Amino acid sequence: MPIVVLVGFMGSGKSSVGRKLARSLGVTFIDSDNKIEERLGMTISSAFRIHGEKFFRRVEAETIHSLLTVEDAVVALGGGSLEDESTLELLQGQFVAFLDVSFKTSMERIKGDVNRPLVQSEEIEARYLRRLNAYKKWASITFDADNWTTDKIARALLEELRGDSVRG
Ligand code: S3P
Repeated sequence: MPIVVLVGFMGSGKSSVGRKLARSLGVTFIDSDNKIEERLGMTISSAFRIHGEKFFRRVEAETIHSLLTVEDAVVALGGGSLEDESTLELLQGQFVAFLDVSFKTSMERIKGDVNRPLVQSEEIEARYLRRLNAYKKWASITFDADNWTTDKIARALLEELRGDSVRG
């Protein structure tokens, strides 16, 4: 299984933290959104536009299921991925880091992002609230992604992982 799985809403800094942490650990960083884009040969926005969200969620779940078996990697999951029951089952026993961003900060960071098809959707706040419970429930560790920089979170995670390895 991956060394750490990063979860959180859009704009929480998962990719940025993941890249930094993976570099420090000397391992691969894998972003589920990038894998989906590679697999489909199109951007996430195009996948939503052409095939719809239901299709995207199916591909997302399949992609993530295979990523959750990869060894020696830091893996970041798309913000909506914990809405899938079968994905939750596979999170059992994983080291899950939740980057806790407020709805307000998330919106400030992602507004106008054309690569995130849900940014303009009306029920975005409802999605945020719905997911929060799952993020909290599955978190092994939580970081304040409003006030902590991605550097600081990556460093703290690194210390945590090193501490864990010393404790054995
Ligand atoms: C989504 C989040 C995005 C991406 C897609 C849908 C969501 O990932 O998977 O646009 O439903 O919150 P990030 O959380 O990496 O932005």
